[in-house]
Amino acid sequence: MRILVTGAAGFIGSTLSHRLLERGNDVLGYDNLNDYYDPTLKEARLARLAPHANFRFVRGALEDRPALERAFAEFRPQRVVNLAAQAGVRYSLTNPYAYVEANLVGFINVLEACRHGGVEHLVYASSSSVYGANRKLPFSVQDAVDHPVSLYAATKKANELMAHTYSHLYQLPTTGLRFFTVYGPWGRPDMALFLFTRKILAGEPIEVFNHGKHTRDFTYIDDIVEGVIRTLDRVPAGDPAFDPMHPNPGSSAAPYRVYNIGNNRPVELAHYIEVLEQKLGRRAEKILLPLQPGDVPDTFADVAELSRDTGYAPSTPVEVGIGRFVDWYRAYYAV
Ligand SMILES: NC(=O)c1ccc[n+]([C@@H]2O[C@H](COP(=O)([O-])OP(=O)(O)OC[C@H]3O[C@@H](n4cnc5c(N)ncnc54)[C@H](O)[C@@H]3O)[C@@H](O)[C@H]2O)c1
Repeated sequence: MRILVTGAAGFIGSTLSHRLLERGNDVLGYDNLNDYYDPTLKEARLARLAPHANFRFVRGALEDRPALERAFAEFRPQRVVNLAAQAGVRYSLTNPYAYVEANLVGFINVLEACRHGGVEHLVYASSSSVYGANRKLPFSVQDAVDHPVSLYAATKKANELMAHTYSHLYQLPTTGLRFFTVYGPWGRPDMALFLFTRKILAGEPIEVFNHGKHTRDFTYIDDIVEGVIRTLDRVPAGDPAFDPMHPNPGSSAAPYRVYNIGNNRPVELAHYIEVLEQKLGRRAEKILLPLQPGDVPDTFADVAELSRDTGYAPSTPVEVGIGRFVDWYRAYYAV
């Protein structure tokens, strides 16, 4: 099986590629290694993949249509996982065009390449941020998601709409996965766990938004990757139960699905920090701040549909996952 993974130098993409290679798939990684965060970390992730004989890599941007088309024409992927995107909620308040380029222009290029390349299944990253101003918990794919509170979220919701159009018009099977705060080894330096760890070890204070009171459905990377692979292996068909008089937002008469992929066990930020302090053996000096514009107070994933359809069963509590992150961080940075 030939699988093209965009964002293969990223946190989720590199871990996913690793697992796909281990189970014997051919993987083409596609990534522009941009400098949104330290590119040497991206290179180090790629260096772990390079020894696999079945791994190839192309450095390119999604919005570079000729480069993307060339990669598809040469590799002829059977399945595609689109993880490359401009991520991050707060950055979208100051750099909106980065999101339009990578997440909208880039995504239409991926859809077109999949359509013309006869791809069997496109799995793509959406986000829990699409729930925006919703307050009904847990978040369900049955809920309307029409009130995004950041441009990042709006582009992820747009991806779901664009995917549906291609599933409907061209019978391209697509599955969107709404990821809920992913963490673990080889993680992202712009995310809380990484930022807190660096600052606590350097003896610097950490900024704790919403006074540490918000909850997040923190999901461990290995659980996420397991869920992505189970999803990738299950090509959606049109839902025979789909009723256009009462349209189910998570499915369609077209080969289209959207799922939440979270831990289903929300944890308060203050507790997450306490666990980190225990694992590091150090207390954090905290600067308590209000909720940031664009951020949502709580997230909690209803994963019943993904579990029903794929057997997804996340099993890693934050006490275990944070410990593994800290072990990785100390080894990688030799601190
Ligand atoms: N990590 C999370 O908690 C989380 C939560 C919700 C959604 N997501 C989504 O999951 C996906 C993967 O996230 P991640 O945490 O691994 O992020 P990441 O930033 O580590 O990985 C994304 C990779 O894509 C590459 N990339 C970015 N723009 C590109 C472009 N225009 N062309 C080619 N390559 C490009 C980057 O260089 C990076 O290596 C993203 O779509 C993100 O929005 C992640």
